[in-house]
Amino acid sequence: MQMSYISQEKIAEIRDNADIVEIISNYVSLTPRGKNYFGICPFHDDNNPSMSVNRDKKIYKCFSCGATGTVFKFVMDYENISFLEAVKKVADSAGISVDIGAIPKLKNHSKLHEIYDLSLKFYLNNINTSAGKEAREYLKSRGINDAIIKEFQIGLALDGKDALAKLLFKKFDEKDIMKSGLVNKNAYGFLDLFYGRIMFPLCDLKGNVVAYSGRIYNREDNSKYFNTWETEIFKKGELLYNYHRAKDSARLNNQIIVMEGFMDVIRAYSIGITNVVATMGTAVTKEQAILIKKMAKEVILCFDGDEAGAHATMACADELLAIGVTPKIIALTDGLDPDEYILKNGDEFKNLIKNTMNVMDFKLNYIKKGKNLNNTVDEAKYVNEAIKEINKINDDILKELTIQKIAGETGLDEGVLRSKLENKVVAPKVPKKPKIKMNKYEIAERNLIYYMLRYPEVINIYNTKVTYMPTAEYRLLAREIKMFYQDNGFINEADLIDYAECDEDLVKTISKVEEANLKENYSKEEIDDYIKTIKDYNVKNEVVRLTNKMKEELDPLKKAEIAQKIIDLKKESTNV
Ligand code: UTP
Ligand code: MN
Repeated sequence: MQMSYISQEKIAEIRDNADIVEIISNYVSLTPRGKNYFGICPFHDDNNPSMSVNRDKKIYKCFSCGATGTVFKFVMDYENISFLEAVKKVADSAGISVDIGAIPKLKNHSKLHEIYDLSLKFYLNNINTSAGKEAREYLKSRGINDAIIKEFQIGLALDGKDALAKLLFKKFDEKDIMKSGLVNKNAYGFLDLFYGRIMFPLCDLKGNVVAYSGRIYNREDNSKYFNTWETEIFKKGELLYNYHRAKDSARLNNQIIVMEGFMDVIRAYSIGITNVVATMGTAVTKEQAILIKKMAKEVILCFDGDEAGAHATMACADELLAIGVTPKIIALTDGLDPDEYILKNGDEFKNLIKNTMNVMDFKLNYIKKGKNLNNTVDEAKYVNEAIKEINKINDDILKELTIQKIAGETGLDEGVLRSKLENKVVAPKVPKKPKIKMNKYEIAERNLIYYMLRYPEVINIYNTKVTYMPTAEYRLLAREIKMFYQDNGFINEADLIDYAECDEDLVKTISKVEEANLKENYSKEEIDDYIKTIKDYNVKNEVVRLTNKMKEELDPLKKAEIAQKIIDLKKESTNV
């Protein structure tokens, strides 16, 4: 599994010199409690500090969702980057110089990805041909220059209706091509889904192109933009436009700006605003909200300045409030979207970023619309809706200020308003452990590995007495432990995890093992007991396998042979 460009020693050196508490603090705030530090786990939806970070063990662990690993794993998962990229990042923040050379981009090379890579080349090439002249002119007329075209990999699907299909069929199977969402089949043959459109690639979190949005530019069509439908590699609700380009800048600025359309994002770039992503016109999902929350502490929503935009702002704000983020708002007016606003006012937009509105003011304005506060019925409606909105926020000060504001507007007594607030009962901070049902064999495997992770002599016992775990995931982990120990002559969790380059499945299994929370010291009898149980299980499985084989065997002699084997096995298992 080890195939990195940096030596294992160097990786260990970086991990041991980088303070895991300090690095994770760059992403989530941690508070010391006892020997550990605690914070809100960014890997699941939570408001309680379920994640602990142990400086000595160099491991973090979430008691709620089970996420665990070393500092590299944290950075990998938080930023959706590869192991090597994470190592480099951690080294940089810890001021350790490493020369990794060019880090290979984390590419998921499924057939679908390859199909997208090829289609991208094709579309990028088209726009520079003579057939792309009109498209180039269109983009130019919208103030999109060559540098931006290049940066955002804007391409062109030509008018011809099967040019891409033909190209793809030269290299790929029909089965894969049909799964890509780029080609359709009808009675006449295979047709491109995109034609006569300027192509905006949509990337997954790692920056792989996984879909397109194609815009018409020289003809009428029912849809201004046509999007790839969802495929195995494209789930619209799980990504944000421009995420992979914006995340570093968002972290640096401690601020992320969320817009609706990708044209808005591209326009913001043109005036040097790079910490910006787009939701792409659909209601923001919980996954997207969590992504946004992870990008930066300060979240600014800047949707279109029309009714639809205001509605989307309300909905997006609610998704964010539900996960403990209080966004700020830029409320554009006159139906302008950020793209149009920036075209009209240029750098003026940067002042809007500095003078955002607080979310409650935005909400109060929104629910006030169409109501006459001099009319008692409307006023009562307004107050009730406002109270509902206040109940959605966590920020006590903002709550209090809003109460005062409503009291001022309506002349109602603040105490009366306050009495209408829901008393949010904070859930008791009992870590909820996922209950996994395990049979006694799995428990024995898990417990044995628990001690193998701590004591070399238990690895030796395993090597001489068992050598085979019946359950696949434990078998893989045991093998990895064995290999690590063979290579290094010691064992510990953090080193093992990095040795396996934070392999997802392996870390999951380790997390499961660690959940056993056994006492630190083992007894010889205990270990013997686990080994006996595992052996019994292996024998049992083997007996089942042989019994089936025996049933299928036609030759009576061979049948008898197998029967004897079964008897021997059963005998052996009783005197392990
Ligand atoms: P908008 O209609 O606000 O697009 O839709 P826009 O950014 O102003 O685009 P231009 O300036 O006319 O080129 C916002 C987002 O909604 C999605 C797109 O992702 C777009 O960026 N959308 C819009 C579609 O998917 N299909 C459509 O027909 C329209
Ligand atoms: Mn627009």
